[in-house]
Amino acid sequence: MTLDPNTALALLEWQVELGADEAMLDAPVDRTELPEARPPAAPAPIPVAPAAASAPEPEIDRVAAARAAAGAVRDLEDLTAAIEAFELCDLKRGCERTVIADGNPAARVMVIGEAPGRDEDRIGKPFVGRAGQLLDRMFAAIGLSRGAETGDSALYITNIIPWRPPQNREPTPEEIAMMLPFVERHVALAAPDVIVMMGNISCQGLLGRRGITRLRGTWTEAMGRPALPMFHPAYLLRNPEAKREAWADLLSLQARLRGGA
Ligand code: URA
Repeated sequence: MTLDPNTALALLEWQVELGADEAMLDAPVDRTELPEARPPAAPAPIPVAPAAASAPEPEIDRVAAARAAAGAVRDLEDLTAAIEAFELCDLKRGCERTVIADGNPAARVMVIGEAPGRDEDRIGKPFVGRAGQLLDRMFAAIGLSRGAETGDSALYITNIIPWRPPQNREPTPEEIAMMLPFVERHVALAAPDVIVMMGNISCQGLLGRRGITRLRGTWTEAMGRPALPMFHPAYLLRNPEAKREAWADLLSLQARLRGGA
């Protein structure tokens, strides 16, 4: 077929418009067969010494680290700083505040609870929510309060764990074991005459035993001091009928402080 020059030019311009940028031959060319079109041969692999298996991260002994940190503490101010600086407990990451203690460290009675809840995390003091308000009323009934200036009528309050566990779940045995050296040092520095263990987690930490329904009301020894397990006030809020036993335990504490038990 022969085309007149004007038609041939119009066809060419139309193809250029469509994006054709190269003149083709009448017969197709298999470019994969052209020597220069073959991809260059891959270079021979350079032998590489097998990568040395990366050394596993050394396992940190968190309990030993806590023991070392707590052991270096000389007073309650140091203790606060050491707990606040302790980065190995993951609970710390989800919290607003480190909750260490409230009340009078010269108190004869040291109350040890479980862990902060939402209100404690917001305010930075132990037992300030509903359970804490009940705790204050309970001890006020036997003449003890965290605001009292003399050790005889004062209360000193702390927890096994200084950071709020997510969704207020129970602290794990590992978390309890990790923070226990600080509790032990705390008790040694405050040197109370008696310890009150509030609920199962406190008993688990200090006595290595749970079962508060059986343990409560019976004097025992924890960290070298007389210690009384009691129902946790949060439990009493849910089970008001158990307040009768809690009252009996408070009277037993009062008798002990007066030297009568
Ligand atoms: N329950 C605890 O055991 N401790 C607190 O500080 C608050 C609630």
